[in-house]
Amino acid sequence: MKKTVTLTFSDGSPPIELPIEQGTYGTPVIDIRPLGAKGYFTHDPGFTATSSCTSAITYIDGEQGLLYYRGYPIEELAYKADHMEVCYLLLHGELPTAAQKQAFVDSISHHSMLHDQMENVFRGFRRSAHPMAVMIGVTGAMSAFYHEGMDIFDARHREIVAHRLIAKIPTVAAWAYKFNEGQPFIYPRNRLSYAENFMHMMFSTPCEDYEPNPVLARALDRIFILHADHEQNASTSTVRLAGSSGANPYACIAAGMASLWGPLHGGANEAVLKMLDEMGDVSRIPEFIKRAKDKSDSFRLMGFGHRVYKNMDPRARIIRQTCYEVLDALDLRDDPQFRMAMELERIALEDEYFISRKLYPNVDFYSGIIFRAMGIPSSMFTVMFALARTAGWVAQWNEMLADPAHKIGRPRQLYTGPARREFVPIGERTA
Ligand code: ACO
Repeated sequence: MKKTVTLTFSDGSPPIELPIEQGTYGTPVIDIRPLGAKGYFTHDPGFTATSSCTSAITYIDGEQGLLYYRGYPIEELAYKADHMEVCYLLLHGELPTAAQKQAFVDSISHHSMLHDQMENVFRGFRRSAHPMAVMIGVTGAMSAFYHEGMDIFDARHREIVAHRLIAKIPTVAAWAYKFNEGQPFIYPRNRLSYAENFMHMMFSTPCEDYEPNPVLARALDRIFILHADHEQNASTSTVRLAGSSGANPYACIAAGMASLWGPLHGGANEAVLKMLDEMGDVSRIPEFIKRAKDKSDSFRLMGFGHRVYKNMDPRARIIRQTCYEVLDALDLRDDPQFRMAMELERIALEDEYFISRKLYPNVDFYSGIIFRAMGIPSSMFTVMFALARTAGWVAQWNEMLADPAHKIGRPRQLYTGPARREFVPIGERTA
């Protein structure tokens, strides 16, 4: 028998029975949809206790530290698959066969160039523009190139959108960096893997040969996998809400990027590096730890703690190992800043304050260190996150539109403004 909950009212109004739904895993949800017809809304700013959709893509258990894409634990995917397989899995629900993967990789490779006129879009920005601003602008501008003739209710059209976005966003990201640097744009190379191709567009110049380091390419590919989706976070919910009206998907992904840009979401890895720069030396770690514990000081140890994970973030465990591999490959283990980061991690993991509050190093702590070691500037860190998350955004957008029951998102509100009042002509108003 289906579980229900009964809402009773202190004023004697008739009770309302609401169904309780249970997903494959996770917290049961009370289906409150009947409430609207009965004259009530629910109030939940920040959606702290509200499920906004049904989704079969990603599952997180923050208490146990679990993350699954389509039922596969993140550890299995990070160590046994590559980002192309994970993109396919997110989009299609199943891992590809060898033939399906080859066809997918071919399609992504052949969509990686930007329309020639897109160069003009880049050139309209100031050289000093933040690369996230450029990403948002250029991705939004893709809607001007791909709009006419697109039917978002046709599954094949949505698949083309997904392939274009996954293929072109690395080019947009690398070009945003090149534009900042004043270097020529580097065109994609189809023979390279997804991560290698991105490194090629970022780091090569027309004057010199460039061979991507395989350890770094593998690390980057793993980072892309770890960041590919994270269920209904702010940016993904933004993509869904924008897309729910039937808006152009490139514009929706640009909206998701705008949401990601905020320091409370995608900007934390940049903050980790700023903190390490400020710290400057291992000898100052105790001072920063003391400040982090001091309730009268707003300072927090950046890269520690997570809203959902109250156990070690499974992605952090994987990326930590990748971080050491990258530092070894680049012979940077003895670099003073990286030694300082590793010492900070060691001290915090042994400190009673952090242990008792379940504050573990998060994925941002390590991704910032890896990016810096690779030579990616901190202004590009959120761009890297956006590049990886594009797969998840487009998979979630596709899932929403494929659902025949999908509706435009339209939250309600608790109005607290003035009650109805009379209009006063301007000459009669007093301050
Ligand atoms: N440094 C010091 N103390 C901390 C930290 C930290 N980084 N994070 C949490 N705490 C303390 C709080 O002061 C609080 O202590 P109290 O119980 O004595 O009052 C306790 O731990 C619980 O903290 P909350 O604020 O309730 O935890 P919440 O879940 O709201 O915050 C957050 C999570 C925002 C991530 C927080 O841990 C934080 O600010 N971390 C630093 C920023 C960061 O690294 N963000 C990246 C998140 S990961 C990601 O976005 C992929």
